[in-house]
Amino acid sequence: MLFENMPEITEKEVEKALQFSTEQVIRNLPEFTYKFQNAYSEGNFYHPIENDYWTTGFWTGEIWLAYEFSGEERLKKAGEIQIQSFLDRINNKIAVDHHDMGFLYSPSCVAGYKLTGDRRGREAAIKAADQLIMRYHPVGEFIQAWGAMDEPENYRLIIDCLLNLPLLYWASEETGDYKYRDIAEKHIHTAIKNVVREDYSTWHTFFFDMTTGAPDHGATCQGYRDGSAWARGQAWGIYGCALAYKYTKREEYIDIFKHVTQYFLEHLPKDMVPYWDLEFTDGDDQPRDSSSASIAACGMLEMMKYMDTEDAESYKKLAKQIMKSVYDNYAVKDPKVSNGLVLHSTYSNRSPYNTCNHYGVDECNSWGDYFYMEALTRLQKDWVLYW
Ligand code: GLY
Repeated sequence: MLFENMPEITEKEVEKALQFSTEQVIRNLPEFTYKFQNAYSEGNFYHPIENDYWTTGFWTGEIWLAYEFSGEERLKKAGEIQIQSFLDRINNKIAVDHHDMGFLYSPSCVAGYKLTGDRRGREAAIKAADQLIMRYHPVGEFIQAWGAMDEPENYRLIIDCLLNLPLLYWASEETGDYKYRDIAEKHIHTAIKNVVREDYSTWHTFFFDMTTGAPDHGATCQGYRDGSAWARGQAWGIYGCALAYKYTKREEYIDIFKHVTQYFLEHLPKDMVPYWDLEFTDGDDQPRDSSSASIAACGMLEMMKYMDTEDAESYKKLAKQIMKSVYDNYAVKDPKVSNGLVLHSTYSNRSPYNTCNHYGVDECNSWGDYFYMEALTRLQKDWVLYW
C-alpha cells in the first residue's frame, strides 16, 4: 500500500493544532471582524478586504470551527456580525455573479444557522441558493462557473463547483422545494461524467456546445497545462465525489472516488503534500499547494462514512498521515511568522500554458486554512457538516 509507513497525526496533535488555530483566529478578530481575510497572504500575512470576493466565507468558517472547538462567546459574536455582512451582500448583489455561492454561504451562513439558529443565516443562504440556480443551463445540464451566461467562451463548468452544490441540497431540505436539489443532481452527473478523464485525472474546466449542450472539450485555467492534473482540481474532485455520493447515493461515485483519490496519491511527493500541479514531484523546483492536501483529507474523512470497515480504515489512515505532514511541515506554529494557519499554498500560478492570473503563490490561503481546521475537527469529533 502507498505510504504504508508514514506516521499518522495523534489525538494529542489534533488537539494541539486546533488549540493553536483557535488562538490564532481569536488573535485575528480585531482586524477581521468587520473586514475579511484576503484570499491569500502576502509575505505570509493576510490583509483585510471587504466582503466582495469568492473566498470570504472561509474566514467566517474558521471562526465557526474555532467557536465549535472553544465555545468562546467572542467568536460567536464575530460570526454573527459576519452573517449580517453576508446577508447585506446577497441583498445588494455585491459580487455574486458567479457560481461560488456555496463556498461563500455554506461555511458562513449555513454553519452559523446550524450552530446558533441565526435566522439571518438561513435567509441569506436561501437567497444565495436562488442566486446559484440562476446560472443553470438546461441545455447541457450544468451550472456555469463564471462570466456572462450567453457567451460560448463562458459555456463551461469547473470541477470546483462540486463544493458549491451542498448549498442547494440544504436549501431544498430547508424549504421543502426540490428545484434546488434537482439542479444540483443534474450538475453533479454532468460534471462527473465529463471532468474525470480515462486515467482518473481530472479536467479543471469543461466546455459544452451552446446550441446542443453536447460536451465539447476540457481545458485548464489554474493547472500547469491542459493535459495535466491541477492539484487542487483533483482535490476538489476527491471531496466533490464524496459529497456527490453523500447526496445522491449513486454507487458509481464510490468507485470514481477511489480512482480519483488513487491518482492523487500516486502523484504525491514523499511528504504527501502535492506540488501545485500533479505533473510535478520531488526534485522539481515548483511551489506546493498545501491546501490540496487538507481538502483531499476532508474528502477521505467524509467518504469513509459510507464504506465498509476495511476501506474506511484505510482512508482514515491516509487522511491522518496527510494531516500529520501538514501539521509537522506546513502549519504555522508561531504568530510572528504568519497570521494564517498553513504555509505553502498556491492560489493561482501562471505557466506558459495556462490562462490564469499570478497571485498567492507559496503563501497561506483562506481555504487552505479553513480545510486544515475542518480536517482536524473531523478527526477530533463526529462533526456536523457545514456542506
Ligand atoms: N475555486 C478556485 C480555486 O480553487 O482556486
